Amino acid sequence: MVEPDIRCHADVSALVDAVARIIAERIAQRVRERGSCRLALAGGGTPRPIYERLAQADLAGTIDWARVQVFWGDERCVGPDNETSNYRMAYTALLAHVPVTETNVHRIEGERGPAAAARRYAKTLGDQPLDLLLLGMGSDGHTASLFPGTPDLATAERVIPTRSPVAPVDRVSISLRAINGAREVYLLVSGADKAERLAEVLQQIESGEPTLPAARVQPRSGLLYWLIDATVAQYLAPLKL
Ligand code: 6PG
Repeated sequence: MVEPDIRCHADVSALVDAVARIIAERIAQRVRERGSCRLALAGGGTPRPIYERLAQADLAGTIDWARVQVFWGDERCVGPDNETSNYRMAYTALLAHVPVTETNVHRIEGERGPAAAARRYAKTLGDQPLDLLLLGMGSDGHTASLFPGTPDLATAERVIPTRSPVAPVDRVSISLRAINGAREVYLLVSGADKAERLAEVLQQIESGEPTLPAARVQPRSGLLYWLIDATVAQYLAPLKL
């Protein structure tokens, strides 16, 4: 098991600023080392202010955006203009404000339907590892669009259609195989409503019996960072932090 590196920040705004700085620094480092960076963005609400912070000149200006390939960890099966689209959230919060090359933005075409979109995205994603993968966690312990009830979480596929217990139901998600093949994984967790589940996830990791999708995020590189704030850490006090 990868021992989670948990980094706790005083509050949401401290978390937002710290994560945006880490992402900027890691992208720049990857571009320096490899000439490019394959970045996969998370959806949901937690990353939006982080993307907005990353789009600010003091951070965005440190990145050679022409060398950044942008992917997503998951998407709802809706069009890019739909208000629930993860692409739309990241576009309005970040990508519309930085000089990323349009052909380097690889969105999941959810409007094609789960199976067709997953097949197509598997080709787009290819076999190359992601350099930087951002993930969130739901209060049920899901991550990306891999839910506790998702069948065959151990699939060899890199991208799969899934079904969410909450609308929008039809989803496309990178698999645990693709997640655990990423070079660096950042799990962002904020909000007291997730504290209990995060404790359960960390217990599962510690016991070596991970069943919840978020607990099965175990990158083979070993570079796994849980970035949380006090709304969650407070609850986790009993655990060694
Ligand atoms: C999605 C996400 C999902 C998200 C969690 C947490 O499409 O919904 O990719 O995995 O990260 O549901 O969502 P919040 O950040 O909104 O709590």
